[in-house]
Amino acid sequence: MHPELIAKATEAREKALAPYSHFKVGAALRTIDGRIYTGCNVENASYGLGVCAERVALWKALSEGAHDFQEIAVVTAGDKLTLPCGACRQLLWEYCGNITIHLHSIKGLDKTHHLEDLLPFPFDSRSLE
Ligand code: THU
Repeated sequence: MHPELIAKATEAREKALAPYSHFKVGAALRTIDGRIYTGCNVENASYGLGVCAERVALWKALSEGAHDFQEIAVVTAGDKLTLPCGACRQLLWEYCGNITIHLHSIKGLDKTHHLEDLLPFPFDSRSLE
């Protein structure tokens, strides 16, 4: 199933607005019922306002009423795979739980992770009980 998701994330990456880092990222988030929401990173001259591709995809999905997520693909063009940043891991955990994360570089690298391995000992709603 995931070649289609990688293709969508690769297409989304082309739309990245990354004039400061020149590091373009694409993401594609799939719901359990098969809908796909894409995102790219969007940067700003006020650097801290930039948003990662994963979060753009997540905000698009949530704001359109999607809730149950199965997997996300993250695509870059690096010689190494790009792992989601800490903020994105936290947000994905909140809204997607232990989601499957497919990392891909257009240079031909691939690896799949599960979020619980990237964010062990999370802070979440249970921490507030
Ligand atoms: N970035 C993402 O979009 N996703 C990641 O997983 C890592 C980093 C973006 C943020 C920024 O626009 C650029 O990559 C360099 O950090």
